[in-house]
Amino acid sequence: MSRVYVEDLARHIGETVTIRGWLYNKRSSGKIKFPVMRDGTGLLQGVLVKGTVPDEVLERFEELTQESSFAMTGKIRVEPRAPGGHEMDVSDIAIIQIAKDYPITPKEHGVEFLMDRRHLWLRSSRQHAILRIRHQVIKAIREFFDGKGFLLLDAPIFTPAACEGTSTLFETDYFDLGKAYLTQSGQLYGEAGAMAFGKVYVFGPTFRAEKSKTRRHLTEFWMVEPEVAFNDLNDDMDLAEEFLEYIVQSVLKNRAAELKTLERNTTMLENVRRPLPRITYDEAVELLRKSGVDFTWGNDLGGADETVVSQHFDRPVMVHRYPSEIKAFYMKRDPQNPKVALAVDVLAPEGYGEIIGGSQREDDLELLLARLHEHKLPQEAFDWYLDLRRFGSVPHAGFGLGIERTVSWICGLEHLREAIPFPRLIYRLTP
Ligand code: 4AD
Ligand code: MG
Repeated sequence: MSRVYVEDLARHIGETVTIRGWLYNKRSSGKIKFPVMRDGTGLLQGVLVKGTVPDEVLERFEELTQESSFAMTGKIRVEPRAPGGHEMDVSDIAIIQIAKDYPITPKEHGVEFLMDRRHLWLRSSRQHAILRIRHQVIKAIREFFDGKGFLLLDAPIFTPAACEGTSTLFETDYFDLGKAYLTQSGQLYGEAGAMAFGKVYVFGPTFRAEKSKTRRHLTEFWMVEPEVAFNDLNDDMDLAEEFLEYIVQSVLKNRAAELKTLERNTTMLENVRRPLPRITYDEAVELLRKSGVDFTWGNDLGGADETVVSQHFDRPVMVHRYPSEIKAFYMKRDPQNPKVALAVDVLAPEGYGEIIGGSQREDDLELLLARLHEHKLPQEAFDWYLDLRRFGSVPHAGFGLGIERTVSWICGLEHLREAIPFPRLIYRLTP
């Protein structure tokens, strides 16, 4: 017999099937007993009526505790009022293991209590909804780039140098070769890929020793980074807005039930349609001052500033041409105004802040060397990267989208720690 899952029950109406899973809940009403099983794909309520099933089956029902594993056999009926829309008339129960004192009960628990038991918390319906949306986001990302003929280029995690500044590097000993650093971004390798394949995307975990205990910072997070030869900043923004629209619309279309479980108001998500507004950093500063924020030109936008800027728009907003001083060494300066870099950040609405950071890259060898020195970065470690400017350098651009920031925004989470199965934060390394 082939295995049957709860999510496929519509194809098994009237059949007798066995489902294996865990006890989610149970209740009794006189002679009728209702075990609710979760099998990972959905919930199924069983119905046992005293007198119509053998007494030992009822005894096994009584033995079941929350999260005990068991198999339930019976005939499937349509039942619109039941969770999932089906019910099983149970004829047999087989216990696999009895769980004693499962720590996460239906009552309210604090987040730290739940985070300490993250390995168990993943079984709850809210975490299911979030992680299914995360899966959909990743699926949409792959569909989008694969559909446009991008090559997936896997960048290394051990690297010899910083990509996004030295302050947040995790370092480790690396045999006789000295220090290695966990990658902060696969971008530099993505650029090599773009020169080799024209258009690529790097997708993987990235690491930052972020000292900030904010709701938007993880020390390990996933980032997808497209990089395209011959793209300038405008092309980069065109790609970013089309990409974001694709991801959000894909979640709305395919994960409506999960968004409902999360009680997410989807109005702002439905607005994520091209074109997205584009403003310069200078215009963002003006907006901030108009909103009463005392902001000095040249500073980076903090989380609170991003919220104020984005409140002026009904969808994500792209802020471009930031002061070059506050941006990474590889960003090209605007030939019209070298004080600003050809950079763009995409700010999500509803206070979620930056979800994408990108730029056109410095493609001139001499200027790039000057930037390396200004940033006090060791030239030897970047020698291979400089080769990309020595051998057929072309204008190119790319960006990075943080998966957890995106999932957190789409799901309407308070903190991005729930947007990844096992979060790594400055004060959390377990489970
Ligand atoms: O703006 P960032 O630092 O850009 C880069 O790393 C570039 N190399 C990307 C590129 O052009 N290829 O990071 C990009 C995105 C941010 O917008 C944010 O969504 C996410 O990565 N991010 C973080 N997410 C969670 N925790 C952190 N500590 C993050 N730091 C950045
Ligand atoms: Mg950034």
